[in-house]
Amino acid sequence: MPLPLRRSCVAVLLSLFAACGGADGNDLAAPDGRRNGAGATPAATAALPTTPIPTSNPTSSAKVALGRLLFWDPILSGDRDIACATCHHPSFAYTDGRARSIGTGGTGLGPRRIASATDPQITPRNSMTVLNTAFNGVTGTATGDPLQAPMFWDSRARSLEGQASGPISARGEMRGAHFGETTIFPEIVTRLTAIPEYVSRFTEAFDGAPIDQARIVDAIATWERTLVDHDSSYDRSRSGGPAMSAAAQRGERAFAASGCTHCHNGPMFSDFRLHRLGVPDLPGTPHDSGNGNDQFRTGSLRNISRTGPYMHNGVFNTIDEVFQFYRRVDRRLDPALDNVRPPQGNDAADVKAFFDALSDGTFDQSIPGTVPSGLPVGGAIN
Ligand code: HEC
Ligand code: HEC
Repeated sequence: MPLPLRRSCVAVLLSLFAACGGADGNDLAAPDGRRNGAGATPAATAALPTTPIPTSNPTSSAKVALGRLLFWDPILSGDRDIACATCHHPSFAYTDGRARSIGTGGTGLGPRRIASATDPQITPRNSMTVLNTAFNGVTGTATGDPLQAPMFWDSRARSLEGQASGPISARGEMRGAHFGETTIFPEIVTRLTAIPEYVSRFTEAFDGAPIDQARIVDAIATWERTLVDHDSSYDRSRSGGPAMSAAAQRGERAFAASGCTHCHNGPMFSDFRLHRLGVPDLPGTPHDSGNGNDQFRTGSLRNISRTGPYMHNGVFNTIDEVFQFYRRVDRRLDPALDNVRPPQGNDAADVKAFFDALSDGTFDQSIPGTVPSGLPVGGAIN
């Protein structure tokens, strides 16, 4: 659905800037952290608002259907062997269940995927879920400007449209060795233009305008905005439906008492700000300094039971390991860590039940039967 009013859009845009700032997180986390650290704990709030949609990229069923096929079609990769869905698969809540992803040249899906023996390509970071990324940057009941929505673990990109060119152009993810950063999109446009089904689908989705890079990413972003999961038992309990399980209700209270909500708050359970936690490096991998100042974006806790391994580098396999990490976290690193008291014993079990209530698997898990290129759906994953 479109944004209701231009006026509210501008107001929200301003507040989103205040919340998320520009690309430079260094200016943001410290003042924010101080305020959070000193002030009251914000509560995790209720339901997700209406999906924000940019006026420059209105949605339509034709565009959604096209974007879904592009998301699954390895035709978008230089070597025609990997799709967005390879690393963002519904079986793993639109992540890949790995600490770090295996890019082009790899075969198989999820934890069983193996890298090419001759040209192994492994991403430096953990795959993030695409579910609910339509709400990135949304911290309250108002929806922000979707063109400013922060993307990636370090929030270095803005908007789903802005994000989608990244993996296609990245050598190790989808581009491969045979095309350059400037030649990959012209190649993909040529390929798509040679497939009659894509020509007719683009024509329908974009009123006859020719296939180009901007329309490719617009279609993908439009599809991603439909990957919304707002029907978990948590959401249902919030909107007048049946209550969560007794354990999940106790867990919600224990979670609020744990100080986690200083950062994991709002409808996405994320303040969408950058914080320095001192997460350990994944053994055997180089240090990742995030935004350059060791800061990463607060992870959303929606579907968290299904999106492990955890943190920007997937260093923790379980929620219990995450709790253990917060027990020994260096509280001097961020003022919002001051009051963190990770749950223990029965409380920890209850908080995990609460996380399960945010992770019901009520999202779209469908997989297209075929893609217009005729290539294997999702790339070399079988
Ligand atoms: C080789 C695996 C791989 C492929 C292929 C891939 N991604 Fe990702 N994706 C990742 C990783 C890893 C990250 C986190 C990267 C970072 O923070 O630097 C990510 C992050 C994202 C995010 C940011 C989510 C957020 O909350 O900030 C979106 C959206 C996304 N990918 C969509 C896509 C789309 C669309 C495609 C296809 C055009 C795609 N990805 C292809 C691995 C992959
Ligand atoms: C100071 C802000 C802050 C506080 C307080 C905080 N977190 Fe986090 N949380 C983050 C950031 C930032 C990340 C991402 C860190 C990274 O990847 O390096 C994160 C990541 C996570 C993740 C992994 C998300 C993913 O997708 O991999 C979980 C789970 C989590 N936190 C749970 C908790 C719990 C439980 C508490 C309370 C005991 C808590 N957090 C307190 C900021 C915070």
